[in-house]
Amino acid sequence: MTVTIVGAQLGDEGKGGIVDLYGDAADVVARYQGGDNAGHTVVEDGDEYKLSLVPSGAVRGKTGVLGNGVVVNPRTLFDEIDALNERGLDPDVRIARRAHVIMPYHRVLDGIEEEAKSDSDLEAGTTGRGIGPTYEDKVGRRGIRVGDLLDPAVLRDRLEYVVPQKRAIYEDVYGKSAGEEFDVEALFEEFRAFGERIRAEDMAVNAGEFLAQQEHAGANVMLEGAQGTSLDIDHGIYPYVTSSNPTAGYAATGTGLGVTEVGRGEVIGIIKAYLSRVGTGPLPTELDGDLAEYIRDEGGEYGTVTGRPRRVGWLDMPMLRHAARARRFTAIAINHLDVLAGLDELRVGHAYELDGETIETMPATTERWGDCEPIYRTFDGWPEVDWRDVANEGYDALPEAAREYVEYVETELGVPAYAISVGPDRADSIVRTDPFA
Ligand code: GDP
Ligand code: IMO
Ligand code: MG
Repeated sequence: MTVTIVGAQLGDEGKGGIVDLYGDAADVVARYQGGDNAGHTVVEDGDEYKLSLVPSGAVRGKTGVLGNGVVVNPRTLFDEIDALNERGLDPDVRIARRAHVIMPYHRVLDGIEEEAKSDSDLEAGTTGRGIGPTYEDKVGRRGIRVGDLLDPAVLRDRLEYVVPQKRAIYEDVYGKSAGEEFDVEALFEEFRAFGERIRAEDMAVNAGEFLAQQEHAGANVMLEGAQGTSLDIDHGIYPYVTSSNPTAGYAATGTGLGVTEVGRGEVIGIIKAYLSRVGTGPLPTELDGDLAEYIRDEGGEYGTVTGRPRRVGWLDMPMLRHAARARRFTAIAINHLDVLAGLDELRVGHAYELDGETIETMPATTERWGDCEPIYRTFDGWPEVDWRDVANEGYDALPEAAREYVEYVETELGVPAYAISVGPDRADSIVRTDPFA
């Protein structure tokens, strides 16, 4: 059986925490897209782990798989594995041979393109991890795959084709002077060594076959989405999006599992009780001033990967309808209810007004989305309480106004909230339904 975890908004909804929460019953946790642009947090008994490539099941000792749809930077992967080793974890990570590799030149080109766009309104505010340029090369059939790192002759051939092109772009288009990131010999030596480590640690797999075998043997497989629906290259707020498909359809493509396999399982949309956003583009329910600062501070809304202060806003219901209905969540999890505590009242963008009409879901172009005026609903605030006690006691212990908020979201989206989080720690969550049960 599979359970797919998908961000319902703009990333950082608390996906890692929910993967960990339900991870006990999982045997394998697989990522299907994105790369080290992700930053997924797991807090176990006060110990915080911030994971960018190692799937969040690692904290519970579960096997992790980086599927073919992931873009893998071996430098950050091995740094992360080594850092986890130092903390006493020994993550079992398998990497799809078909997954594409983020090369040093991808990072440089990511930065240079953002710089070039900074005079326009096209800058996406990327994490600078080389994600877009790596997916471009994948689609352009000039990428380097994990399997190529294991075969020095192929690796050299690929590098000899692609690196001069990249160097020419950097030097001739952007007028920069290229360094080691564009040097075939240096890249060959470093990445061949990564291939040796992958081989020595027996990490390379045919992901689809590996996962199918696990499934046939009765394993529970968790599919861990990164980013969120509104950052999806197809379904998000293009061009202020990431370069992959966080939505559940890609869980099949990005792992090699069948769509029927993924579709038989649950798809849980992860919702932050308000909005937060690193990066650029419109944000109709955006807050500013003291209220924004209050929520940013209470929620620790600073980027996990880059440390940037995040923009914050009220919950945007058309965005959630877009994510939940069209993408068919079977359930949701709602996080960060504690962050909103202490406000006298709070608001939700219930619908939009666009050209004098009321609409309930997002328009398909980001420019039109930027023209939307939220139509707000006001909710009673709830008090600050001892959230650990609430989590221990269960759903009925939530303040009444918080329950009303949860039930409003459930009703609007037509799916139940399987879990509710009132703090970052595993112990701060209320589990109402276990999707693997
Ligand atoms: P992800 O990218 O979706 O996995 O989310 P991140 O880890 O980037 O960001 C979520 C942040 O909120 C992390 O610091 C979590 O520890 C924290 N967090 C998750 N759930 C809750 C919650 O219910 N309340 C509070 N206060 N923090 C939470
Ligand atoms: P997790 O998995 C929040 C955003 C970037 C930028 C856009 C494109 O932790 O939720 P990219 O580097 O992917 O090319 O950047 O996407 N972004 C995220 N925002 N959480 C993430 O991941 C993100 N990954 C990318 O800020 O706006
Ligand atoms: Mg994150």
